[in-house]
Amino acid sequence: MPKRLEASTHLPDTLAAIVGGANVLVDPAELAPFLTDWRGRYQGRARALVRPGNTEEVAAVVRACLSARIPIVPQGGNTGLCGGATPDESGDAVMLQLRRMNRARALDLENNVLIAEAGCTLLEAQAAARNAGRLFPLSLASEGSCQIGGNLATNAGGVRALRYGVMRDLTLGVEAILPDGKIWSGLHTLRKNNAGYDLSNLLIGSEGTLGIFTAAALKLYPLPQKTMTCWLGLASPEAAIVLLDKVQAAFDSRLVAFEMICPLAGELMRRHFPELSLPLDAPWSVLCELSDCSHASDLTAAETLFAECLAAGELSGAALSRSLREQEAFWRRRECISEAQKQEGDSIKHDIALPISRVAEFLRRIKPLLNERFPGIRHTAYGHLGDGNLHFNLSMPDAAENERLLDNEALVNRIVYDCVDELGGSISAEHGIGQLKREMLCRYKSAAALSAMRIVKTALDPRGIMNPGKVLPQDIELSPLSPGHSPASGRGEQCPLLEI
Ligand code: FAD
Ligand code: MLT
Ligand code: ZN
Repeated sequence: MPKRLEASTHLPDTLAAIVGGANVLVDPAELAPFLTDWRGRYQGRARALVRPGNTEEVAAVVRACLSARIPIVPQGGNTGLCGGATPDESGDAVMLQLRRMNRARALDLENNVLIAEAGCTLLEAQAAARNAGRLFPLSLASEGSCQIGGNLATNAGGVRALRYGVMRDLTLGVEAILPDGKIWSGLHTLRKNNAGYDLSNLLIGSEGTLGIFTAAALKLYPLPQKTMTCWLGLASPEAAIVLLDKVQAAFDSRLVAFEMICPLAGELMRRHFPELSLPLDAPWSVLCELSDCSHASDLTAAETLFAECLAAGELSGAALSRSLREQEAFWRRRECISEAQKQEGDSIKHDIALPISRVAEFLRRIKPLLNERFPGIRHTAYGHLGDGNLHFNLSMPDAAENERLLDNEALVNRIVYDCVDELGGSISAEHGIGQLKREMLCRYKSAAALSAMRIVKTALDPRGIMNPGKVLPQDIELSPLSPGHSPASGRGEQCPLLEI
């Protein structure tokens, strides 16, 4: 943590002079909603929350915090799932909220680019594009609250990444405040730009540890003219992967989303959202979306394909949307899964990436490993199968047993992530690292990568004011792994906090 100077005692006054007194919150009751994360897992404290109204104000706030050596914690819509936007318990930090910066600065239809400020919600950015007859395709269940700044900082993925890519792929350039308080304007509308290091791409996914996003140049796409959304019933994840291969072969880039939903996720949906009846009764489900930008396109070939799969016993049921209303209703079911799990109680969440070919193998291998240590453990496995991205969440049906499981989170994580690592996967597919996984990063990222990350962090933010304690552990000396303690990949470094 940076050593604080005496000047910091007057920081709220300095900040108020920059952004106006009404935009500096210090009252504990007003601060309270910003001090805990969406899951209610982390609870922090802060000396103030500051709400700048433009880029220059953000830069001035960063300079004021830098000279007082006060840590800054950026927060967007506070929907992040790794605690990245929650300050620590010291109460030292200033929180930075850009919701006042919510303008679509420019819509350049010739170049298919939207310049949106970081405080726009994702829904607002989508609407600005749609009103101009274009598509901004990033789509998450949290889109009504999450903000473009948070989407950039987490490199968000979501349900349509299969066709359009993740936030990084959807961004041509950014405007950001660097940790020294300089405004860096990398906003451009170029599709190719190899002039030196790509700072935008370095900042995207850095979770507020390397700079503050104030705006982004976002790629727009033609609006789909035809869309078909299908809810498909299957026997197993293996069957879902066979189906994915078939649908991809038949529809290629017209396949937009391919989401898998496990039996327990279906059960939780039914329990907590009984008004949303499921389209089919099947052990496993796939929600698949096809779309095309040509009016002339014919997606009915999908009906033939699914009929053949039904006849061959590869599908146990198929419901195809007949209207926009039905499409939206299918998606509402998929989008309520996180909330249904939250209502069910605490669980140990994993957002993992695997080679698609090994997703089913992961599920086959991991279940007995976990059941052996925690008999009766419940697995929720669902998510973006088309990207090899599973949300694999664990809990116990009984409250007391669930507490015991939560107490053993480090062991559970070790079992899950070692298996992911052995299969060539990643411990974070789309949610980031935040404070949830920072110690685990030491184990599963190579020593070379960790040391390069530290060098970058120290070079850009030598005083460590940008979201300290997120992504990289603050005080852990990195040293080579002890023998017999290495993940299968041979990657990683020893991390004392991970010893179990
Ligand atoms: P916050 O939670 O406020 O912050 C997240 C991180 O970004 C923090 O480290 C914060 O410090 C940093 N940050 C925020 N704003 C800035 C800024 N302007 N400059 C620099 N750093 C900043 N994620 C997916 O990828 N795919 C999904 O499908 C998905 N579904 C979700 C569904 C639900 C119901 C929920 C609750 C979350 C879901 N998420 C998903 C996670 C979350 O919505 C995303 O990570 C989102 O991008 C976070 O945006 P936010 O504005 O809420 O950021
Ligand atoms: C989703 O895809 O629904 C979110 O990323 C999931 C989550 O809550 O883990
Ligand atoms: Zn997801």
